[in-house]
Amino acid sequence: MLGVFITIEGVEGSGKSTQLFRLSERLRQIGLPLLVSKEPGGTALGRELRRLLLEPHASGDAWCPDAELLLFYADRAQHLERVIRPALAEGMIVLVDRFEDSTRAYQGASGVPETALDRLSELVLKGLRPHLTILLDVDPELSLQRVEVRNLSMGPEFSETRFDKAELDFHRRVRKRFLAIAQSNPNRVALIPARDAVDDVEAAIWGRVAPLLRNAGFGVD
Ligand code: TMP
Repeated sequence: MLGVFITIEGVEGSGKSTQLFRLSERLRQIGLPLLVSKEPGGTALGRELRRLLLEPHASGDAWCPDAELLLFYADRAQHLERVIRPALAEGMIVLVDRFEDSTRAYQGASGVPETALDRLSELVLKGLRPHLTILLDVDPELSLQRVEVRNLSMGPEFSETRFDKAELDFHRRVRKRFLAIAQSNPNRVALIPARDAVDDVEAAIWGRVAPLLRNAGFGVD
């Protein structure tokens, strides 16, 4: 792998989108070779899966946990094969909004056992790991309020995802899992408090990204 692989993670409303936008703008202004993507939905077929996974189905039916898990990994397999691995092989900086830690946090919080997660991970990732994961940490009680305000202000087409409706307890379990991942992977995961002002969060993220890029040989001040 020649490029640099960075993922950004966090509970709903943690400010991921804002920070991803700011970081990608900064990298573009410097003129670095950048690819920005997301999961689920980083490919044309993946966008179909995203819709199937996140939008309520007209039939009222919902995915059972195993089916949901496999669909998230199907999306990831396609994304890795078609987008992430080729971009890394070309030496690009690949910035992805959510990756495997989200599966471990969300599907783990839904009751999927670690062994199933480990097996799929081995099959699909084949040892590939992000060089850096930015974990934006915030209490879901606060972040879900942000999501609610955002949805109200954006109108019906930005209706909540099914996960937004899940109970606060679920999101607390998700946060706990993210924190456990950060604790077990201290070299990969940068835990950044997301309650702070947007500019401060941006500076903290840059404090982790800049040295990584410098070490990888990219011209960054
Ligand atoms: P997003 O718009 O923040 O990316 O929302 C995607 C939703 O999908 C979010 O609720 C988290 C959820 N998700 C999982 O449950 N498992 C996964 O593996 C991924 C990538 C996302």
